[in-house]
Amino acid sequence: MNQISLLRDKHILLGVTGSIACYKAIDLASKLTQAGALVDVILTQSAQQFVTPLAFQAVTGRQAYTDLWGTDAHVIHIGLGESADLFVIAPCTADTMAKLAHGRADNLLTITALAARCPLLIAPAMDGGMWAHAATQANVKTLAARNVTIAGPAEGRMASGLKGKGRLVEPAELMGHVRLMLAQANPLAGKHVVVTAGGTQEAIDPVRFISNHSSGKQGVALAQAALDAGATVTLITGPTAAARSTPVGATRVAITSTLDLEQATLAACQTADVLIMAAAVADYRAAAPADQKIKRAQMSDLSVQLVENPDITIAVANQKKQLGNPLLTIGFAAESQNLLENAQRKLKKKSLDLIVGNDITAKDAGFFVDTNRVVLVAKDGSIERLPLQSKVAVSEAVIDWISNQFSG
Ligand code: C5P
Repeated sequence: MNQISLLRDKHILLGVTGSIACYKAIDLASKLTQAGALVDVILTQSAQQFVTPLAFQAVTGRQAYTDLWGTDAHVIHIGLGESADLFVIAPCTADTMAKLAHGRADNLLTITALAARCPLLIAPAMDGGMWAHAATQANVKTLAARNVTIAGPAEGRMASGLKGKGRLVEPAELMGHVRLMLAQANPLAGKHVVVTAGGTQEAIDPVRFISNHSSGKQGVALAQAALDAGATVTLITGPTAAARSTPVGATRVAITSTLDLEQATLAACQTADVLIMAAAVADYRAAAPADQKIKRAQMSDLSVQLVENPDITIAVANQKKQLGNPLLTIGFAAESQNLLENAQRKLKKKSLDLIVGNDITAKDAGFFVDTNRVVLVAKDGSIERLPLQSKVAVSEAVIDWISNQFSG
């Protein structure tokens, strides 16, 4: 099960209620559809004051439903409810939350919510005072006790001009919640996967550092693919921008240097089933970083003495001898020559179960770009060359390989 197929052909019911945040629901419907889901939208009457059914039909390519009952009105809610894999209500007003909490069924959306047997995700949107009100909070408690997942609300500026807690969670983040909910029963459910991502930075002085071109994109995509496979994910990331975008549901541990990364990785691996070392680790660090900024005058002919960093995968393998975890360790080999030989050598030296080799001299693979062309070399000697594909698809192939190890 992977990220691309996670949403493909899933029936998502999207309930839209009357909040100014309705316009963001169009974006959510579009994102879900682009990810392959079949999105059936139900708008309440007040939602239609803000947005039209036509807008949703245009982005989903499917009928959007309203309270205008037709000849098959008596079965629509049952049909929609029965076929849904997930019911999302975004934005969800205080009024609809109250109706849901009390089992009311006075419009197509709330009738369908009673008829549906699938999990329910709601994303509240209302003014801060309404959210904080004891009545709303009591409804939140009731719904949470019934296993309804409540995403947000977020803090920030609201349509009233006031700041507070009540904003609809952004569609991109809602997508993460949808994915988490759909992933729950997937092959890596119950497994803890640790992913390291991005480059490390080794200080020379308080201003300068030694690092590399790693963006962290591949590692973040691996974390998302592991979440999509149902795993609990710890994402240990260096300071690069892409590495800072933590997928919804992952626990992020921020690190700077290789020594930080080693400590964080060894700690996380105590309970990990799988370690994926996608981080581009600096092999050397300054022997004695300067406490103060090194001045230009001092810099003509400056040399910085470097000492070797520990190899983290080897430290992990040593810890595993005592603790038994992680069950599987996956490494990466970014090579500019002799890809296969180097990958095979590193697999052995680092006691890996799988190494993902990539040729960094290719223009369309490796650093900066969103695509990668990799070869998977496994401990049993098998070699699988994957075609040029997105880093997301590469991640899915790696996660599928891991899932197969547990299933077989
Ligand atoms: O030897 P090389 O740096 O090419 O090895 C790459 C693999 O080893 C990657 O998975 C990387 O995260 C890991 N590594 C490590 N500790 C280091 C250097 C690399 O765990 N000091």
